[in-house]
Amino acid sequence: MAKRIDVSGLNAYYGSFLAIEDISMTVEPRSVTAFIGPSGCGKSTFLRTLNRMHEVTPGGRVEGKVMLDEENLYGAGIDPVAVRREVGMVFQRPNPFPTMSVYDNVAAGLRLNGKHKKSELDDVVEKSLKGANLWNEVKDRLNKPGSGLSGGQQQRLCIARAIAVEPNVLLMDEPCSALDPISTLAIEDLIGELKEQFTIVIVTHNMQQAARVSDRTAFFNLAAVGQPGKLIELDDTERIFSNPSVQATEDYISGRFG
Ligand SMILES: Nc1ncnc2c1ncn2[C@@H]1O[C@H](COP(=O)(O)OP(=O)(O)OP(=O)(O)O)[C@@H](O)[C@H]1O
Ligand SMILES: [Mg+2]
Repeated sequence: MAKRIDVSGLNAYYGSFLAIEDISMTVEPRSVTAFIGPSGCGKSTFLRTLNRMHEVTPGGRVEGKVMLDEENLYGAGIDPVAVRREVGMVFQRPNPFPTMSVYDNVAAGLRLNGKHKKSELDDVVEKSLKGANLWNEVKDRLNKPGSGLSGGQQQRLCIARAIAVEPNVLLMDEPCSALDPISTLAIEDLIGELKEQFTIVIVTHNMQQAARVSDRTAFFNLAAVGQPGKLIELDDTERIFSNPSVQATEDYISGRFG
């Protein structure tokens, strides 16, 4: 079930360094929001605060609120491991578990959650691989290592692994940056299908990609190196790319800096 993300007054630190400052935004369920902005402005950092991964980094600290529907992910008594199950993540480099088969990669999260019945796992593995548009390419090699797939296939395998545990939110940090154009389009199509079910946030440096896949676009920027990144503007993607409200957004999307 897709949930609404509602962030308010969020700061994230590495030790004493304030990396992102006072971020507030809402991401609607069953929509795709793209994060854009120059390198170092805190897109990945902010993304990782949305599933409590930021605090895994030594010195990583978060202030503020992230509501997932009615629940504050930073509230007392919240289990970060449960949060990470609910808010799935796909990384820039495809990272299938190298020693595991295609099947076991997809089933790994389910097994962690205590599901072991073969018939049940078979069903979810097939459904997830179909959901990730990978089934036809791997159905005859489910027991071969996941690391033997092409880069684009590995990335779809990672998406299958992420959706197998039925998260409510899917975070993607430059999921296509290591892929060829055809695999990239396959992933973009897939994102369009997945948003029927999930709330999706994608970080991308590719403006065309942001324009193609997202409903809303958030532009982040920093005043200078060493300054914290801030959310400059969040609006409908069409508007951000045609008629943004802030000059810095206009400059960035038209390639004048960044
Ligand atoms: N593990 C870390 N320890 C200390 N500082 C970090 C760490 N990771 C990131 N930072 C700093 O936090 C700031 C934001 O980094 P972040 O990786 O979130 O930027 P980004 O927008 O994702 O950049 P890119 O587009 O290059 O991926 C940068 O100044 C970066 O140097
Ligand atoms: Mg990044």
